[in-house]
Amino acid sequence: MKNAPLKAAVLISGTGSNLKALIDAIGRGQLNLDIVQVVSNRPEAAGLGHARAAAIPFSVIDHTDYPDRQAHDAAVADVLQRAGAELVVLAGYMRILGEEFANKFAGRMINLHPSLLPLYKGLDTYDRALDAGDTETGASIHFVTAGLDSGPVITQIRIPILQGDDAATLKARLGPLEHELLVATVRLFCERKIHCTDSVVSFDGKEIEQPLQLKPGGSF
Ligand code: GRF
Repeated sequence: MKNAPLKAAVLISGTGSNLKALIDAIGRGQLNLDIVQVVSNRPEAAGLGHARAAAIPFSVIDHTDYPDRQAHDAAVADVLQRAGAELVVLAGYMRILGEEFANKFAGRMINLHPSLLPLYKGLDTYDRALDAGDTETGASIHFVTAGLDSGPVITQIRIPILQGDDAATLKARLGPLEHELLVATVRLFCERKIHCTDSVVSFDGKEIEQPLQLKPGGSF
C-alpha cells in the first residue's frame, strides 16, 4: 500500500527557489509530499509568492516582533505543530535556532547547506572553499541540531571547482543541483527510508557511515 503523503512545513527567509522546486516536484507527481505550511521570518521574502501561487498556507513570523530568540522560536514551533508537520525543511531559513526548538523537532528537521559539511559551516561557503584552494564543493542536507550546521549529514552533491570560478559561478552551477538534492532527499523521507536515532542516520534500516551521494540522474 502506498504511504500517505508526508506532511511537511518549509521555512524560508528569501527567494524560496528550493521551496519552488518542492512545489514543482509535487505538481509533476514526483513527490508524495503535502506542504501543509510555509513560514518566513522575513515579511519581504519573495518565496512567499510561491506559497501563495500554490495555495499553500503561509505565515510571516517576523523575528523583529519578538523580544528574543526563544519567543520567536516558540511562535514558529506553535504554527508548525498546529499544521501537523511531520517533517520540517529549512530551505534558506537564515535564523539560528535555539536548543529548545531543535530538540522539539529532533530527527524530523532538515537543513540544506551550500558546502560539503563538515567543511564550512555558516556563511560565505563558496569564498571559503575558493580561498582554501579546494578542488570541489557542493551541498549537504543534514538533520538539524542545536549547533550551527552541525547535525548528522544525510546526503550530498559534489561539483568540481574549475579554473576561473568565483562565488557567483559556483552558486549558479550549484543552485539547480541543490534543488535536485533537496527533492531527492525529501523523497527518501516520503518513502520513510531515512531515520535518525541518537545522531545515527539510517537508510533503509541500515546505518550510513558516509552521507549518501546524489548521482547524475537523481539516484543515491
Ligand atoms: C540555498 O543556496 C541554500 O543552500 C542556502 O540558502 C539558499 C536558499 O535559496 N541554505 P532559496 O531561498 O531556496 O532560493
